[in-house]
Amino acid sequence: MRVTMIGTGYVGLVSGACFADFGHTVTCVDKDEGKIARLLKGEIPIFEPGLDELVKDNVEQGRLFFTTDPTAAIRDADAVFIAVGTPSRRGDGHADLSYVYAAAEEIAGLMNGYTVVVTKSTVPVGTGDEVEAIIKKVRPDADFAVVSNPEFLREGAAIGDFKRPDRVVVGTNDERAREVMRQLYRPLSLNETPMVFTERRTSELIKYAGNGFLAMKITFINEIADLCEAVGANVQEVAKGIGLDNRIGRKFLNAGPGYGGSCFPKDTLALMKTARDANAPIELIEATVRVNSARKQKMAQKIIEALGGSVAGKTVAVLGLTFKPNTDDMRDAPALDIVPTLQAEGAKVRAFDPEGMNEAKHMLKDVQFATGPYDCVQNADAVVIITEWDQFRALDLDRIKDTLKTPVLVDLRNIYRPDEMRAKGFTYVSVGRP
Ligand code: UDX
Repeated sequence: MRVTMIGTGYVGLVSGACFADFGHTVTCVDKDEGKIARLLKGEIPIFEPGLDELVKDNVEQGRLFFTTDPTAAIRDADAVFIAVGTPSRRGDGHADLSYVYAAAEEIAGLMNGYTVVVTKSTVPVGTGDEVEAIIKKVRPDADFAVVSNPEFLREGAAIGDFKRPDRVVVGTNDERAREVMRQLYRPLSLNETPMVFTERRTSELIKYAGNGFLAMKITFINEIADLCEAVGANVQEVAKGIGLDNRIGRKFLNAGPGYGGSCFPKDTLALMKTARDANAPIELIEATVRVNSARKQKMAQKIIEALGGSVAGKTVAVLGLTFKPNTDDMRDAPALDIVPTLQAEGAKVRAFDPEGMNEAKHMLKDVQFATGPYDCVQNADAVVIITEWDQFRALDLDRIKDTLKTPVLVDLRNIYRPDEMRAKGFTYVSVGRP
């Protein structure tokens, strides 16, 4: 099949490379000339494990192409995917759809013969109808179908999530389009991946409901963690105890500093907005959003308390800045709230992150960036783990303790064991554990 991806951001690039790896011929189109020039040289603009190899292989095999010119790519395509950004619109939380609509117009002007137009970008319910209307207006004669096919890719694990998904969701009533989608995802039938065929609006809502539920699940365990601290219980054991119930499930029950990233914060806000606009507000999601944003401040307070109630004039070493490991993405990372709060209270912050420091340099002021974890903790009054990168999971604790001015370690991801840390002589503070 011939596939065209409009947008070479995170989703477009990963999906394009994976479809090419399935054996389809894929052209990725982007207006950003610099980005396309870099991709043509084999440089990957984002950090995603395995993506550089996958792109390189498929370019070499002649299945993956990059261009700024959509003309031939759209004209010859069986399916054109819209994978452009849908950032939060300033002020009201609604997704900004101007890039999606611009892509729809462009596709309408260039498509030729029966074409399946697929929205991969996360878009509010009803966007598919609007895309269809735009295309019809530009090309009343066009033979096409608009399909919703949301992505469920986690950063850092995106290739695995694409190639071994729990399910593929396809929203359309057009039988020809369903067949095209079946062909595109045929390689997944080997693993018997469930394909959920549904109406377009339902498919659009599945994406938001899924992310909303996961954000709520994390927020639930975070509040249980606070309760554990208040009553002397252990949140990891509570999570295990409830997670073994198959109806609940063990995943996404790790208490921490609150969710961040490019999806959960944006999608929960958009879901909230859609629900309010439809006069069907979802109070659970509203509470999730409120509790999660307050949590980041709470984490800064936790650090201040661990340092005896004041950080003024003290040096805090921060390990991990990205919103989660295996990404360089700093969007809505808890560190972006925690670090400035500590600074406002008079702390000096030194930080190290394996991949996120280039991004972080634009987003955090007056932070001294270190070259590694041991360099970072040198003579600091406390060390705080904000992101659970693998390389922070087995630190030489004796060395850390010797290098710190005072042996205070705040572990916001619960990667160490309280009894072991105490035995080593640390003042150890974690989340929801006695
Ligand atoms: C998410 C969804 O998982 C994915 O399906 C969707 O398409 C895009 O959004 P992503 O944002 O890459 O993916 O990261 P994810 O692994 O889901 O983590 C999101 C946030 O939740 C991170 O800040 C992470 O640290 C936090 N989290 C996750 C927890 O605090 N506890 C958990 O148990 C799981």
